[in-house]
Amino acid sequence: MSLYACIERDTPCDPNEIDRRVEAGIAAQQRMDAFLASLPPRYRRYATTPVAPEVLATNTKARAALQAMTPQGFLYLTGDPGVGKTHLAVRQAVNLIREGFSAQFVDEVEYFERVFAEFGGGRPAPSLIAPDVLIYDDLGKQKPSDFALQKLYHMLEMRWSHEKATIITSNLTPQAVGPRISDDPAVAASIVSRLMAGQAVGLRGADNRPGSAV
Ligand SMILES: Nc1ncnc2c1ncn2[C@@H]1O[C@H](COP(=O)(O)OP(=O)(O)O)[C@@H](O)[C@H]1O
Ligand SMILES: [Mg+2]
Repeated sequence: MSLYACIERDTPCDPNEIDRRVEAGIAAQQRMDAFLASLPPRYRRYATTPVAPEVLATNTKARAALQAMTPQGFLYLTGDPGVGKTHLAVRQAVNLIREGFSAQFVDEVEYFERVFAEFGGGRPAPSLIAPDVLIYDDLGKQKPSDFALQKLYHMLEMRWSHEKATIITSNLTPQAVGPRISDDPAVAASIVSRLMAGQAVGLRGADNRPGSAV
């Protein structure tokens, strides 16, 4: 019962229950604000805009994978640019935030820049271990340096072993992304194995990013 309902109906209210609800509401808003702050402006609107019904209708496997995803799960979304990977990932994170989890978005290109700065003695790159839910966007866009590869591997291993929800998007399949990340076949194989340890689904569709030529 809301505080307003208590007042309006003159119903006896449990002040502790009201406090709990107010605090839970504030905490949820703080989690959402932190997540929105981690999103680039263009993707911020994905958090508040439902995914186009066509995307879900075309990609029934992705839809099922999202529904089946647990707050401990790994989900790998692959497909051509503009099919809706990032939008789906952001909306899934919003669902998990509503369930009480914290979430963070990181784009690989930007993350590697931060890692490069850290390697050069600058501020540490953000921790990708701490959030309950991580979206790692556009894996395989860049070849990582040795230091970035260490960080990436550490992130995958820690998040997997600590059962933390991780959504990875990429234009490449896990099998194709492995050799792009590392020339060492053993390292590439162990990365692919972690990427495929949860659910991996391919998305189909046209490039629907606004401004795409038709
Ligand atoms: N078949 C579709 N119909 C309508 N909108 C779509 C369709 N496919 C993708 N979109 C929209 O196009 C935009 C680009 O999606 P985005 O998630 O950024 O693509 P990417 O797969 O490159 O990450 C999003 O707003 C997404 O919902
Ligand atoms: Mg994307």
